[in-house]
Amino acid sequence: MGKNNNSKYISIIKFSPFGNTLKIGEYIQNILTESNQQCKLFNLTGISWQQISSFDYSLVEKSDLLVIGSAVYAWKIVKPIKMFIDNLPINKNGKAVFFTTYGLITGYTLFNGANLLRKKGYKVLACLKVPARHSMIFKKEDDIYLNRPNQQDMKKIWKFSKLNIKLLNKFPIWELYFKKLDYHSWKVKLLYKFMIKRFGMDLITSTYFNQRIFKR
Ligand SMILES: Cc1cc2nc3c(=O)[nH]c(=O)nc-3n(C[C@H](O)[C@H](O)[C@H](O)COP(=O)(O)O)c2cc1C
Repeated sequence: MGKNNNSKYISIIKFSPFGNTLKIGEYIQNILTESNQQCKLFNLTGISWQQISSFDYSLVEKSDLLVIGSAVYAWKIVKPIKMFIDNLPINKNGKAVFFTTYGLITGYTLFNGANLLRKKGYKVLACLKVPARHSMIFKKEDDIYLNRPNQQDMKKIWKFSKLNIKLLNKFPIWELYFKKLDYHSWKVKLLYKFMIKRFGMDLITSTYFNQRIFKR
């Protein structure tokens, strides 16, 4: 759908109650636009379930690339983004990338997002996780990513955006190796299951858990 071989039509969809994911989405939009891509950002923050259901999916369906951004909530993709992907029409020629911002540990978010897109027929080319200020700090816990994203993170986002254009123009298309997105060890997964099911979020307050056990 692009104007010429080098210019593609890219839709960025994101949900960002605290603003971190929006900031990254806007930065990606700027980089892609400066790189001569036609880029449109759709902000799902604050809109109702009904509005997501009745969203005009034809607006994004013909995009050469979907860039979808979600915060991590309780180790997972946020519900409005899940709902949005679930409602996308099947597109066997679709291409997508997925990114997340997180305040502690990403859990299953990248895997969730990429897998949902794949179920809709999309080829997932790349994923990115960006540490950012935590939007909900427990008790006396330190915000370990208070000053993130920093300059180095922004550099990574720049590289990710440029890589998206490169991958989009590659033939044959290179899909991401999904196993890479399931990066937490079984110990961490077990701990998570145990904590969420038995004790809830209270246990996550320990900085020992944050810094030693969890691979972010
Ligand atoms: C209810 C809730 C649950 C969260 N759960 C996690 C989590 O499991 N892991 C994590 O790393 N960050 C978690 N966060 C922090 C957010 O993912 C992080 O601050 C994110 O950048 C917020 O994105 P936003 O500014 O786009 O809303 C949680 C925040 C809230 C409010």
